[in-house]
Amino acid sequence: MDIKVSLKNTDIKAEDIAAKKAQANTGLDKLWSGELDFTGWVQAPLNQDKAELDYILNVADIVKTEAELMVVIGIGGSYMSAKAAIEALPKTEDGIEVRFAGINFCSPYHRALMDEMSRKETVLCVVSKSGNTMEIRAAFDILKELMEKKYGSKEAAARRIITITDKESGTLRAETNEADYVNFEIPGDIGGRYSAMTPAGLFPMAVAGIDIRALIEGEKAAAVSPEWDKDATDYAIARQLMMEQGKAIETIEFYDPRLTYLGEWMKQLYGESEGKDGKGLFPATLNFSTDLHSMGQFLQQGSQIFFETVIVVDEYEEEIMIPAGVLAGKTLEDLNRAAVQGVTAAHRQAGIQVIEIHIPKLDAYHYGQLLYFLQTTCAITGMLMGVDPFDQPGVEDYKREMRKALGQL
Ligand code: PA5
Repeated sequence: MDIKVSLKNTDIKAEDIAAKKAQANTGLDKLWSGELDFTGWVQAPLNQDKAELDYILNVADIVKTEAELMVVIGIGGSYMSAKAAIEALPKTEDGIEVRFAGINFCSPYHRALMDEMSRKETVLCVVSKSGNTMEIRAAFDILKELMEKKYGSKEAAARRIITITDKESGTLRAETNEADYVNFEIPGDIGGRYSAMTPAGLFPMAVAGIDIRALIEGEKAAAVSPEWDKDATDYAIARQLMMEQGKAIETIEFYDPRLTYLGEWMKQLYGESEGKDGKGLFPATLNFSTDLHSMGQFLQQGSQIFFETVIVVDEYEEEIMIPAGVLAGKTLEDLNRAAVQGVTAAHRQAGIQVIEIHIPKLDAYHYGQLLYFLQTTCAITGMLMGVDPFDQPGVEDYKREMRKALGQL
């Protein structure tokens, strides 16, 4: 297992970790026991169905050959993991453009997509576990009509629509069966934000040209690594200790802009899993060095309500040399390494606690490890906090009020 956690730049001592280790390990055992709802993701990488994976890859190959653009309609857990991986990982040349709809209620955003769809051979992929999500419903109905006009009939459009939804329940399942869309299943025992390893994440990634077999291998390696269990529980305990110290915010920091959407994915994972019963750490993300020039001042000298978690990529695939001037002979990555070191030192001097998570390099295999590591850490922290990391009762509140407001318009 290659993901490493360092707590050396925090105030946490070995005995603080040891004091909570048994509780964290009990959480880990519970995850693996299968007795909790929505923990299907824990063993999923080990039980990956070969026929299903082949089917995902075969359909992805057909889409890559026949289309120039795939528009994925999905939001939250039905969007974020695919978007994050597509932004972060290398892609093969045969991968096609994957864009996302149904992630807002913005006409200009969707108009631009529709213009692009009119110009390009397009496949629509609708991802929704429930089928009822308003953003998804609205975008699907708009873009389906466009597909019907573009391809001349409902039937011709239907041959270019793929759905990813619950095996049995939900309106999208009923619609899928009726229209006979090509479809993949999201297992009932895996919730949206933990669904990266299901077709919801894997299929759009495969169409974009990501090596999903390597990603799954990475997840498998993480799942069976006892050495890694230690790092995952250490990070979970450290986060719980930060909350007990009164820290309200975890600033999750990256030094590589390709990880911006991994940050968005983490925000959903942590925020929705832990923010309940008046508890939880507010996950914020920062991109360095960009945000050092906006939020650097606050971090260094502002109100100390946060701790930092830095995700560091250790090995870069390319290092561009600065050819002239005062920085001649240094690479951009030399400067990045100096930034990681210098910022951590300056923040430490100001008393800020900095957790480091190291990923050896940004490829599908190590990214798979990282996803599995973060999901497990999140679940264990939730259990240490005494909340259910797999439900999201608060999300329903705004949805209910929004439906009410819509009725009054
Ligand atoms: O994690 C979650 O449960 C949510 O973010 C959902 O994924 C999101 O609301 C979309 O729901 P659905 O897939 O049912 O359309």
